Amino acid sequence: MFDSKPNSAEARDIAFHLHSQTNPQRHAEIGPLIMARGEGVHVYDASGKRYLEAMAGLWCTSLGFSEKRLKAAAAAAYDKFGFYHSFNHKTPDNTIELAEKLVEISPIPDAQAYFATSGSEATETMVKLAWVYHAVRGKPGKRKIIARDRGFHGSTIVAASMCGLPRMHREFGLPLDGFLHTHCPDAYRGTRPGESEAAFVDRLAADLEALIMAEGPDTIAAFIAEPINAGGGIVVPPKGYFAAIEAVLRRHDILVLGDEVVCGFGRTGNWFGCETVGMKPDMVALAKGITSSYFPMSAVLLGRPIRDALSEMNKGGELFGHGFTNSGHPVGAAIALETLKIYHEMDVVPHVRRMGSRLRAGLEQIARDSRIVGQVRGEGLMIGVELVADPRDAAGLRSRAEGRRDVRRARDRERPDHPRDGRHDRVLSAADHRRSRG
Ligand SMILES: Cc1ncc(COP(=O)(O)O)c(C=O)c1O
Repeated sequence: MFDSKPNSAEARDIAFHLHSQTNPQRHAEIGPLIMARGEGVHVYDASGKRYLEAMAGLWCTSLGFSEKRLKAAAAAAYDKFGFYHSFNHKTPDNTIELAEKLVEISPIPDAQAYFATSGSEATETMVKLAWVYHAVRGKPGKRKIIARDRGFHGSTIVAASMCGLPRMHREFGLPLDGFLHTHCPDAYRGTRPGESEAAFVDRLAADLEALIMAEGPDTIAAFIAEPINAGGGIVVPPKGYFAAIEAVLRRHDILVLGDEVVCGFGRTGNWFGCETVGMKPDMVALAKGITSSYFPMSAVLLGRPIRDALSEMNKGGELFGHGFTNSGHPVGAAIALETLKIYHEMDVVPHVRRMGSRLRAGLEQIARDSRIVGQVRGEGLMIGVELVADPRDAAGLRSRAEGRRDVRRARDRERPDHPRDGRHDRVLSAADHRRSRG
C-alpha cells in the first residue's frame, strides 16, 4: 500500500496532479511511482530503487538521463539569454546553426527547418503546410488527411484526430471530420490465412486507393505515417509497403508526411526511419531525439515544393501566420546542437546497428527459451516483443486468447501481487511500481 498520509508526496500527487495517459480512478487507488533522478540508462525512484529505463522514458533520452555535456550546453546558453523568439524576422543566432545542421542530415533534399516545441505541434504544422501547398496550386479542396490504424501522432486536436488508437478519440468526439484512417501494415496480425506479405501489401495499397476514390482524390491533402509505428506497438511495415502506398498517393497528388518523432536520429539504424523502410516523405516531423528530450523541442523539415508554395502564398507581403512562442528557443537549440555533435562523434548510425543486433540476439534468445514470446521485431534499437503467441502458428500453438492467459498465468506465478490488468506492455512498469512500495 502506498503512503496515503495527507501530506505524503503520493497523496499530494493524487490530489493536485492530473497525469497524462493514466486512469484517474486507478491512480487514486494505486498512487504514483515517483521518480527522483536518472543516471545513464537508469532511473531511481524516491526510495532509491534503481530501474533500467529500457524505453528511454518515452523513446526520449537517447543519450541517457545524465549527459553532462547537455547540461553544460544548457548552462552556457542560459548565460547568453534565457529566451528569444523567431517571429518577425528575428532569431537567436544558434537557431540558424541548428537549422543548418538538421538540413545537412535531412532525408528530404533542399529542405528548411521549422521549429516548434512538441511532436504534436510538429505533426499539426505539417498538416497546415500541406493545406497551403494545395491551396497555392489551385486545389483548396484538398484538405482531408489519411492516417493509419494504430498510428500515434500526438494529443492536440488535429494530431489526436490523426491517431489510430480509440483511446485518443473516445472521450473527445474525435477524429475531426476529414481525418480518415486506413489499415495498419501489421503483417503479423493483419495477413489473412494463406496470404503472403506481398499480397498483404497489394491489398493495403488497393484498399487505400479505394478509400481515396470513395472520398474523392480532390479532397485529400496528405497521408501521414510513422516509418515504424511506436505507440501502436512497433509495427515494421512489410517489404515494399511504402513503395506500393506511395505509388497510389503520387497518382492522386497526395503529400506524404513522415512522423519521425520516435524513429528519427538513428533509432532505427539510419539517421531517419524513412531511410530504413524506404519511405519518401515530402515533410518530416522531428522531436524527442532532437535534444535527447533535455528540452521540449520539435521541428519540421520541409522540402522545396512546400517552400515554394509558402513563398507563393505570401508574395503579396502577408505574414506566414503560424508560430509558437518558443519556436527555435535558444536554450533548446544549444542542447540540440550538442546532442547532434555527440551523435556525430559516437557515429550513432553504426553504433545503433551494432547495439541493435546485440539487443535483438538477446531478445531472440529469450523468445526461444520462453513459452510466451511470440515475435521479436523492429529495426536498430527500436525493437518490440510480441508476447502473444501467433494463433496461426503451424506447430499448432494456442489461440491468441489462450496465449494471453498464459502470459497472465506466468506473470502471476512469478509475481503474485501483480495488478491483473491484462496489458502486456505494463508488465514491467506496473510490477516494479508495486514492488517499489514494498
Ligand atoms: C510518433 C509520435 N508522433 C508524435 C508524438 C507526439 O509528441 P508530443 O507528445 O511531444 O506532442 C509522439 C509522442 O510520443 C509520437 O510517438
